[in-house]
Amino acid sequence: MRTQVAVIGAGPAGLLLAHLLHRGGVDAVVIETRSQEYVAARIRAGILESSSVELLESVGLGARLRAEGHEHRGIYLQMPGERHHLDFVDLAGRSVWVYGQTEVQKDLVAAGTAVVHYEAGEVQLHDVETERPYVTFVDAAGRAQRLDADVIAGCDGSFGPSRAVAAPAQRFERVYPYSWLGILADVAPSTDELIYAWHPDGFALHSMRSETVSRLYLQVPNGTDPADWPDDRIWAELATRLGHGQDGWKLTPGPITDKSVLPMRSYVQTPMRRGRLFLAGDAAHIVPPTGAKGLNLAIADVALLSRALVALLREHDPRPADSYSDDALRRVWRCTHFSWWMTTMLHTSGDEFDAQLQLSQLRWVTTSAAGATGLAENYAGLPIGF
Ligand code: FAD
Ligand code: PHB
Repeated sequence: MRTQVAVIGAGPAGLLLAHLLHRGGVDAVVIETRSQEYVAARIRAGILESSSVELLESVGLGARLRAEGHEHRGIYLQMPGERHHLDFVDLAGRSVWVYGQTEVQKDLVAAGTAVVHYEAGEVQLHDVETERPYVTFVDAAGRAQRLDADVIAGCDGSFGPSRAVAAPAQRFERVYPYSWLGILADVAPSTDELIYAWHPDGFALHSMRSETVSRLYLQVPNGTDPADWPDDRIWAELATRLGHGQDGWKLTPGPITDKSVLPMRSYVQTPMRRGRLFLAGDAAHIVPPTGAKGLNLAIADVALLSRALVALLREHDPRPADSYSDDALRRVWRCTHFSWWMTTMLHTSGDEFDAQLQLSQLRWVTTSAAGATGLAENYAGLPIGF
């Protein structure tokens, strides 16, 4: 087979890249190890920043988002006994949208713009430093396939082969000493906007997916087994950390439909390119979820990469492709800092000195317009070209 861009991975980065390339008149073929059903059902991110929403809308992917997503003006930040609302629209002129990654994925599949080979095995990248790179794989029917291309886009997340083939000059990493226990529950959210709560027993987050589905998280030690957390224990701990009973607020429990433990780390590898291989999304960088940036960064990367590849392959202009890595990394590092900052401000480590610094920082962010505006500007998101 032959195409212009061989895309590895059909997560949000890979499918959106294929969609943007299609609109730009560039052919792409996507290769994915998992089944379409598996990819569509993976529960992951839930918040889209304003520039992600604008981008999706500008390429025909905004109808269901606007109809079924929920616009939030801001978030609540909480310390024991205090809950403060930060209004991003007032502070930074931008809102965020609650719309699950699963829904973005469904909209991309429904657009029908990407040719995807699901359930591919033994995916390997070849000759990425030449102008004729290619990918080999075994298709779902067990046949060996070769896909020749002008460019390979590595959108295969943190476990795919592309990041190693990219032979990075530098890798930057931070592993955190805690994880998140995440649940999905069939119960109406107990809050209108997300609550990020600092608590001496550990961080808690109340998020949501719809009027009838809540998503909540608890800070837990690394290595936690979800089996040690029966449903009653989870709801009791969430009630304590989120302040059930405080100023009349109540957390309503409900049936838990999904439970998992997510380790947290920051990771960036540079450059995001080797020859004719370009990396986008989690293949090049990972952020801890506290800043809600992972999906948004993947979207911003492919917005830049699609423009660069259209210029390279249709207009024979290599300049945007040559600056892609530097351009993308400016935003990647901003979001890496913001995610690290939110994470270290909100998760308890057991160290009393750290706890006092965190509380002081939270007080500043919730009472000073300058502090609140910095958080709002970063959370609601910077323009795509930042
Ligand atoms: P992915 O979504 O990982 O997609 C990569 C794709 O490549 C996958 O479909 C994978 O199957 C495929 N692939 C892997 N290996 C190969 C191969 N050899 N050949 C072909 N294809 C391959 N972010 C948030 O903001 N909030 C959250 O709550 C949140 N929760 C998360 C929970 C989990 C368990 C994980 C892993 C991530 C979470 N994230 C969250 C991060 C966010 O989901 C990611 O940043 C986002 O999915 C990145 O998109 P991507 O397309 O780059 O990578
Ligand atoms: C989620 O809804 O899954 C979510 C929201 C905000 C975060 C992380 C996860 O910071």
